[in-house]
Amino acid sequence: MPRTNEIIFSIRRLYPAVDAVPHTQRFPVELHPGMTVLEGLLQIRESQDASLAWRFSCRMGVCGSCAMIVNGHPRLACNTQIQDVSREEVRLAPLANYPVIKDLVANLDTLFEQHAALAPYIARSDSAELIAPGGEFRQTPAQLTRFLQFSGCIKCGACMAACPTVASDTRFFGPMPLTAAHRYNADNRDDGFATRKRHMRQRHAAEHCHYAGECSRVCPKGVDPARALQLLRRELLLDWLGLRRRQALAMVQPASDDQPPSQRRVQTPPPFTVQR
Ligand code: SF4
Ligand code: FES
Repeated sequence: MPRTNEIIFSIRRLYPAVDAVPHTQRFPVELHPGMTVLEGLLQIRESQDASLAWRFSCRMGVCGSCAMIVNGHPRLACNTQIQDVSREEVRLAPLANYPVIKDLVANLDTLFEQHAALAPYIARSDSAELIAPGGEFRQTPAQLTRFLQFSGCIKCGACMAACPTVASDTRFFGPMPLTAAHRYNADNRDDGFATRKRHMRQRHAAEHCHYAGECSRVCPKGVDPARALQLLRRELLLDWLGLRRRQALAMVQPASDDQPPSQRRVQTPPPFTVQR
């Protein structure tokens, strides 16, 4: 039994270059009020085993690099207080569904290749404006609301580790890349739906989602990828039926406008319309 101000970290360790199979190593960690799982790992590295490997950067739930399996669930180590997980034992493992580089570091290359394949950026057809910008692309609050929630994704991969479809189909694009695709499809500054369609429509993409909803349950940023995937499927179906109308692209507000922002006339593009 650990001492009253102590908790045990049971960490799944593997160094594929040396170990044939993973093993679990237990470390006592001295507890402080409000201590996070990341702080526990730092204590182990500083006082017990400097070879322990995991990723972290921002320490404030923004960079997405410290996602790991904490007592069976994908979570951000820096955003998880030990007292909210257990009073006796914290069990740590790398994100599921990906090969392990070392200890708690999963190899997420596939995830980011899938993400990149879906063109996760604003694509415009008016290349002249992109090469020589003449102003700002304005949006109304309603147009912003269409994608704002999905833009909060920090690419931590927790949803991918929780997804049962990713677990059974390694080619499935999964919640993170498809949510990013929908985030840009829903942005009226974007014109890239046709570019993304080739990947979004293939059998390992949106239509393969079984809607288990685990992705939304574990997402630390409230992005709701399960909802994004259903909206994406709806857009693809409307497009397949020939009923999807292209969004009116956001118009350019000339940069030479010298009025104060409160008095500027915003060029409001026609609202996004989908024929039902
Ligand atoms: S949708 Fe949520 S869980 Fe998935 S990568 Fe983005 S922030 Fe992480
Ligand atoms: S260290 Fe950046 S999200 Fe945890």
